[in-house]
Amino acid sequence: MEKGQADFVAGKRSGITPERLDDFKRILGEKYVIGDELSLKDYAHDETEHLHYLPDLVLKPRTAEEISAVMRLCNQYRIPVTPRGAGTGLSGGALPQLGGVVLSMERMNTILEIDERNGQVITEPGVITEVLQNAVKERGLFYPPDPSSRGSCFIGGNIAENSGGPKAVKYGVVKDYVLNLQVVLPTGEIIWTGANVLKNSTGYNLTQLVVGSEGTLGIVTRIVLKLIPLPAFDLLMLVPFRSLEKAGEAVAAIFRAGYTPSALELVEIDALLITRKFVDSAIPVTEDTEAHLIIEVDGNHPDALMKEMEAIAELLSGFDTGEIYFADDARQKEELWKLRRRVAEAVKIDGYTIEEDTVVPRAELPALIRGVKDLGRRHGFHAVCYGHAGDGNLHIRIKKEGTANSQDDPSIIGALRALFELVRDLGGTISGEHGIGLIQKDFMDIVFNKTQLKLMRDIKKAFDPGNILNAGKIFDGE
Ligand code: LAC
Ligand code: ZN
Repeated sequence: MEKGQADFVAGKRSGITPERLDDFKRILGEKYVIGDELSLKDYAHDETEHLHYLPDLVLKPRTAEEISAVMRLCNQYRIPVTPRGAGTGLSGGALPQLGGVVLSMERMNTILEIDERNGQVITEPGVITEVLQNAVKERGLFYPPDPSSRGSCFIGGNIAENSGGPKAVKYGVVKDYVLNLQVVLPTGEIIWTGANVLKNSTGYNLTQLVVGSEGTLGIVTRIVLKLIPLPAFDLLMLVPFRSLEKAGEAVAAIFRAGYTPSALELVEIDALLITRKFVDSAIPVTEDTEAHLIIEVDGNHPDALMKEMEAIAELLSGFDTGEIYFADDARQKEELWKLRRRVAEAVKIDGYTIEEDTVVPRAELPALIRGVKDLGRRHGFHAVCYGHAGDGNLHIRIKKEGTANSQDDPSIIGALRALFELVRDLGGTISGEHGIGLIQKDFMDIVFNKTQLKLMRDIKKAFDPGNILNAGKIFDGE
């Protein structure tokens, strides 16, 4: 059996009978119902740790109407459905841990309209984020949210996770750009959540309820995004700090002094050195330091930007910095960003398989960094920190010998619980931009009490009474 053909190995766990298989083929066409084991393996994992769960079937719809017909059927026969974008997620949102059907959005990849008059774009969910950004850029427009995976992730997945990225510190995250969504409900109805307008006080905000709902409330099939004018210039620098904590302290100081960089990223030295093994880069990395900040400013007036950058550099000299590297041209800027974007992937290959997406109020960053190192010593793990320091959003990559997944080793579960309690005690929460998915759900009780969790479960029930859509993500069903 060749890869891609619809052999039937399905149904072992999820009640997909040969009749249902025929139904799916009738709705989608035979070619888009995938059941051979080799192909299924491609849909068994995302980027989360080393987790693998084989689906029973992969469906590749092209329209909202096809998805609606699939959902009606799955709802009737209680077949689990896991929606999937590009599979770049870091919390297991696209993992079909119950088997059943993976609904891949890969064929819904058309940008439908760039509305220059209103500064909006209407797109299908399977468009790669960077492709969308480049398409609007050609019209002088800007869609800022730029997760590190933007070269491969889908915009629909970004909506599901309410993704962020480096630009969030100045421009906000995905939710700040979503105006309206077409959504297929788990029961098959197709709705729009709002209107294509910049202000909206009309009833409950269904749009924002769906944003960040991790594919548990509905399948997003059309997306209306707000666009802004593209800034004409940017400047970028890499600042070494002899102390990691001092780098953390410098972050809040930059904002207190009245600056809003368009990116303010932190990368601990170990993470940078590991990433350099995978990225060909001539950027000087000062090794006798503990961390670097990557700082970008953008705008339309180059002289003002230069002054701002110099003022920030001057301010930072009070925080025990080394020699600053200024990325002079587009190539150097791209190289530095490439180095930053590849950190997660590189450190994972190096054995830092567990990633936590902590976020605290910005000024608490040094306390978080101190706490992480202390927990590592007490619980026997090694951590490297990097991420969106300007947002207080620290990615913590953890390596513990013999532990590839956060669910595997009881001692790591205890360590993660202590980490998340620390985050909560500092006024933060357990995910800034990667979502809860499968791997953080056991820690939700740290930040939400029973009343809050019941409200969330009740919302889930209102959308998905059969509990078929991405069930067991964020929290277990009752
Ligand atoms: C990053 C991703 C992992 O910041 O969120 O690189
Ligand atoms: Zn990130």
